[in-house]
Amino acid sequence: MTFYSPVITNAREAESNEKLHLFRYVEDPDQPRIDTFEAHGGYVAWKKVLSSMSPSEVIDEVKASGIRGRGGAGFPTGVKWSFVPKDSPKPKYLICNADESEPGTCKDRVLMERDPHSVIEGMAIASYAIGCHLMFIYIRGEFGHSAVMMEKAMNEAYAKGHLGKNIHGSGYDLDMIVHTGGGAYICGEETALLNSLEGERGMSRIRPPFPAIAGLYACPTIVNNVESLATVPFVINRGADWYKSLGTEKSPGTKIFSLSGHVNRPGNYEVELGFSLKKLIYDPEYGNGISGGRKLKGVIPGGSSTPFLTPEMIDVGLDYESLQEAGSMLGSGAVIVFNEDTCIVWASLKLSHFYRHESCGKCTPCREGTGWLEKIIGRIEAGQGRPGDVERIEEICGNILGRTVCPLGDAAVMPIQSAIKHWRDEWQYHIENKKCLVKSEFGF
Ligand SMILES: Cc1cc2nc3c(=O)[nH]c(=O)nc-3n(C[C@H](O)[C@H](O)[C@H](O)COP(=O)(O)O)c2cc1C
Ligand code: SF4
Repeated sequence: MTFYSPVITNAREAESNEKLHLFRYVEDPDQPRIDTFEAHGGYVAWKKVLSSMSPSEVIDEVKASGIRGRGGAGFPTGVKWSFVPKDSPKPKYLICNADESEPGTCKDRVLMERDPHSVIEGMAIASYAIGCHLMFIYIRGEFGHSAVMMEKAMNEAYAKGHLGKNIHGSGYDLDMIVHTGGGAYICGEETALLNSLEGERGMSRIRPPFPAIAGLYACPTIVNNVESLATVPFVINRGADWYKSLGTEKSPGTKIFSLSGHVNRPGNYEVELGFSLKKLIYDPEYGNGISGGRKLKGVIPGGSSTPFLTPEMIDVGLDYESLQEAGSMLGSGAVIVFNEDTCIVWASLKLSHFYRHESCGKCTPCREGTGWLEKIIGRIEAGQGRPGDVERIEEICGNILGRTVCPLGDAAVMPIQSAIKHWRDEWQYHIENKKCLVKSEFGF
């Protein structure tokens, strides 16, 4: 039986729009089967790479395409691959990061469940480019169905000779391991992921050394997001120039945005980078406006780790540069919409509870600071806020930001800082009147 998560996608649009490559076949229930995937042009890029491209040619093509990592940091994918030392006698590893635990993000899951071979093909090409013979996919522990689909696809790929020894007579060997994760958000952070994969507790490592030099088992390792890797076969098949023709000059390509919260049509939408955030929320083909006929209060545009935008700020392109200019970030592309009835203190409490719970505890500012934030925001929400609490929160945020081992600390404070910046009156009202300023106490 084939089944998949019942999330809305814009696959229909992708069927008639060549530019929207990632979602073209995700509504075809047979796409996870290897025969269907191949009939749709699957594994052609893999065979092309094996038969006619050197590893450095692959890296150059991916570099030229300008694709940037879709896991959150936006680092150029080809450039990252080029950091792997060619002369190292150690084995090299490729890890597909499918931990997908950032609140609001649910795009990689769709690719794994509905088009798993596209992920394997991208992983195989990346492995070849960096000289790796054993690749891993690290899947969020709760994504049982994703793991089943990936394992099934992997077995089919072995059976068809796309993986294994002397692949298609090229002399190149490649094996794959499907690994389910440790059930913690921090395990998506690439160095905590490496620890988890090695059987240790998922705690971030101090860098340098970076994983490309000393990663899994202290060997050169590349960690890439599912969506980044699933894009690679298209870059190989259609070329870097085609890819660069999509999106904006500095943010080429398409991106899947997970739209959630108070919208009429939450779902995953593949659009060219630079697409209007306002259109994504309001256009009937996408979010179709705010649910219940309410007004918009704010948006988190890139997953729970990124700063809020107000309604006046949403006339902005969904690309790395425009969102940064607007005071937020593209992050993992999870657009979370809040309506006018959402209490900002309540929403901030939910966020700070998450980050306190997920802190790995390695560094003091994050371990202690996230706990203090939750405690102070919690008392304001409970009507027990004290004068000076907002300033106290700001001070704690300032002592976490930029002072931690991994970016989880920054992620914990950026939305809170922006919530205070944009809605300071609401925080003060909550402290002084011991209740919410907005009509409804609970946003969701
Ligand atoms: C707390 C935390 C959680 C993360 N979770 C994920 C995740 O679930 N998936 C992911 O691809 N990247 C995640 N990242 C980013 C990874 O550390 C890494 O940058 C990414 O996997 C690199 O792939 P890319 O270059 O293709 O984006 C996370 C980062 C942090 C700080
Ligand atoms: S910032 Fe938080 S999650 Fe990251 S290493 Fe420090 S304690 Fe761990």
